[in-house]
Formats: sequence, structure tokens, C-alpha cells
Amino acid sequence: MKKSLLIITGHSQGLGKAVLDYYLKQDSFQILAISRTKLEIKSPTLQQLSLDLADLDILESKLDQIFPDEEFDRIILLNNAGWIGKIKSLGKVNPKALRSQVNVNLLAPMYLTNAFIKRYKEKSFEKIICNIGSGAAFRPVAGWSGYCSTKAALAMFTEVAAKESASDNFHFFSLAPGIVDTGMQGEIRESTVEDFPELDKFIDFKKDNKLSSPGLVAQKIAYLFDNPSKFQDVIQDVRKFDLP
Ligand SMILES: NC(=O)c1ccc[n+]([C@@H]2O[C@H](COP(=O)([O-])OP(=O)(O)OC[C@H]3O[C@@H](n4cnc5c(N)ncnc54)[C@H](OP(=O)(O)O)[C@@H]3O)[C@@H](O)[C@H]2O)c1
Repeated sequence: MKKSLLIITGHSQGLGKAVLDYYLKQDSFQILAISRTKLEIKSPTLQQLSLDLADLDILESKLDQIFPDEEFDRIILLNNAGWIGKIKSLGKVNPKALRSQVNVNLLAPMYLTNAFIKRYKEKSFEKIICNIGSGAAFRPVAGWSGYCSTKAALAMFTEVAAKESASDNFHFFSLAPGIVDTGMQGEIRESTVEDFPELDKFIDFKKDNKLSSPGLVAQKIAYLFDNPSKFQDVIQDVRKFDLP
């Protein structure tokens, strides 16, 4: 029996961990999961690769290993790893941190998308590439210059990829997950009003239980993957659709 393959980045915590947990229960899926941290999970369907996605030379050297030359029923690439960055206004931004952020949030998904298309373009099975975006791609947020701009660039990159590959049985999505109760939100709440003027609003989101659970967002992502043809637009937002 042919299997499906999920390649996911940023599986070690947060939203990626919730997606991993969901697909570990799907026997038909093999999973290749990429983060710096390996989890203590033993499963015959899970293979973990410890990679720092900020190191693009190492990523490039691993691309053949990441994308196997095999037949599957479908292959999904979920570029989920992301970093809010060191929250600071411009003039105070650390250039090395900025470079790491651009590598993780933008260049690593670009490398992975490019290699995925190269490897599977001629294959007739279903191919889905989902780059996790953010509402911040379309809204300037003070203190988040690197985050907003990398997510905006990734959204446009995904739209270009979709336009180029329209006839090759690919589905491309740039998917905003909403405001999700993860470590990233914790990092945001640990900033200061001086660096992040919207701080109080984000503290209130948590206090008022306005954050989505990673598990629910993972279910919505899986629904999109199971029904890609129902989602015609590349730019998607989990807040704009419900589970049936
Ligand atoms: N949480 C939200 O409210 C929210 C809102 C909009 C968009 N998003 C997006 O959703 C995605 C998941 O975010 P999250 O909230 O789940 O964040 P998170 O809890 O901080 O998890 C981030 C994941 O990315 C991985 N990662 C970070 N830097 C990496 C690196 N250099 N190399 C390899 N992996 C790296 C981390 O693994 P290691 O540390 O083990 O490497 C971790 O598994 C991100 O793209 C984020 O921008 C989140």
C-alpha cells in the first residue's frame, strides 16, 4: 500500500507539535519532522531530523535526504517553523538575530519549496505545500519589523509558486493560524511596552482566553489538507473557516 508523507518543520513545540500529534494518529502517514530539538517519541511512522534552519548551507546539503525519490499517494510540506525574533524597534535591532530570523522564516521555506517542486514536479500524486503565514504579514506591527516583513514576503513567494505550478497538480497555501496559545505568544508577552507598544493587548488575549488551542488549529490544518480543492485562494486564514 502506498503511503502519504508529511514533511513538517518546527514540530518540537507549539502548533507544529499539535500537527505532529494529529498525524501520529493517522496510520497512512509517514512523517519527517525537522526542528533543532528532537522529541522523545518512538513511532514507526516518525523520522526526526535535527536541523537549525537558520543555517542554510547545512539545510541545502540535506535537501536530497529530506525529499525522498519515491511514490506516495500524496506529499505535504508544512513549513511551520518560525521565530517572532527579538522584539525591538528599528535602530535597536541586532543584525545577526535579524539574519537568523530571515533565514528561518523566509529563506528556509523558500529553499524547501524550491527543492520540493524540483523533486516532485513530474509526479502525478497530490502535492500540497503550506507555508504558515500570519495576519502580521498584512498589518505593520511596531517591534515586529523582521516578523511582519518575512511573513509578507513568504505570502507573496507562495502566490508566485502557485502561479508557476498551476498545471502540475500542486496546491499551495499561505495559512495564517490565528493567535495560538504557544511559546511564541509567551515570548511576545515577555517583551516590554517600550519595545512592543501593543503588549497590553496581547497580555489581555491570554488573560481573556482569546488564544486558540494548538490542537484545534491542527485539526483545521488537517481539514485543509484533506480538502485542498475546496480552498481556491492561496492566502488562507484558519479564522475564516470552521470544521464541518
Ligand atoms: N502562535 C501564534 O499566535 C502565531 C500567530 C501567527 C503565526 N504563527 C506562526 O505559526 C508557526 C508556529 O509558531 P508557534 O506559535 O508554534 O511557535 P513556537 O511555539 O515558538 O514553535 C516554533 C517551532 O519552530 C521551530 N524553530 C524555531 N527556530 C528554528 C530553527 N532555527 N531551526 C529549526 N526549527 C526552528 C522550533 O523548534 P526548535 O526550537 O526545537 O528548533 C519550534 O518547534 C510559526 O511560523 C509562527 O510564525 C504563530
